[in-house]
Amino acid sequence: MYEAFYGLREKPFTILPDPELIYWGSMHRMAFTMLEFGVTNNAGFTVITGAIGSGKTTLLRYLLKKLSSNVTMGLISNSPQGRHELLQWILMSFSQPFEGDYPTLFKRLQDFLYRQHASRRRTILIIDEAQNLGSDSLEHLRMLSNINVDKHQILQLIIVGQPELRDLLLSPQLHQLAQRISSDFHLQPLNESEVANYILFRLKAAGATRVMFTLDAAARIAEASGGVPRMINILCDTALVYGFANGHQTITADLVADVIADKQQYSILPLQKPSKIAKYL
Ligand SMILES: Nc1ncnc2c1ncn2[C@@H]1O[C@H](COP(=O)(O)OP(=O)(O)O)[C@@H](O)[C@H]1O
Ligand SMILES: [Mg+2]
Repeated sequence: MYEAFYGLREKPFTILPDPELIYWGSMHRMAFTMLEFGVTNNAGFTVITGAIGSGKTTLLRYLLKKLSSNVTMGLISNSPQGRHELLQWILMSFSQPFEGDYPTLFKRLQDFLYRQHASRRRTILIIDEAQNLGSDSLEHLRMLSNINVDKHQILQLIIVGQPELRDLLLSPQLHQLAQRISSDFHLQPLNESEVANYILFRLKAAGATRVMFTLDAAARIAEASGGVPRMINILCDTALVYGFANGHQTITADLVADVIADKQQYSILPLQKPSKIAKYL
């Protein structure tokens, strides 16, 4: 709605994960390196954790796009409950038939993995939002990963989730799984200068040809968002709406302060506490 007013081609701060539009700050670069390392080194289990909106799914989508053609990748983003449902979703993610009782499905997965191995194809299963799986299903994943050929694990797993996943993996029931994790990374929020660069990057990608957010405005957004990309997007998008409504082509710190104050009052967004941002006000 405001694109024409600012001379933009498209909305710069959509909240859908877009692998074409990644700002490669140090955290996202390191997390992706870990993912790639896990994939190329045949790591049994790779774990990526990070807060809601920190960019985990975006990185996974990028990985899916970049994978070489001799890899078959299955992705599960919901939270199957119980081992039968989990196995069904795993088969479904590999486009295999998924009806039957548990032993039938287990045999089907085993046969599928053997066929993959025989035709020199690697098989990787990605579980997104894995914090919702619960320890029984995670332990079950470890058991499924025991399907092997000549002692080589032939199903690689990438497990991605919110910080609770880390706690879950540290619990005593999952000790055996934790021991098999060969690469793991926790995605931290962007720091203040990265937030400013992130905002610039997304604006440029949407066609901006001038500075649209002042540095002070970016600093306030950094503070209130806690450096989490999804929160940055929401604050920036709202700031652009406010600027448009008031006829301001440049987003200033004062305008951002209004956005933050309104969000704190009227919205359920988990913004950082006002006391934390007070030094900017
Ligand atoms: N490195 C990044 N570059 C560009 N946009 C990002 C980046 N990280 C996250 N985002 C944006 O933040 C939002 C949330 O990202 P998402 O991958 O869904 O987070 P998560 O899966 O961790 O909850 C999306 O709009 C996404 O485009
Ligand atoms: Mg996600």
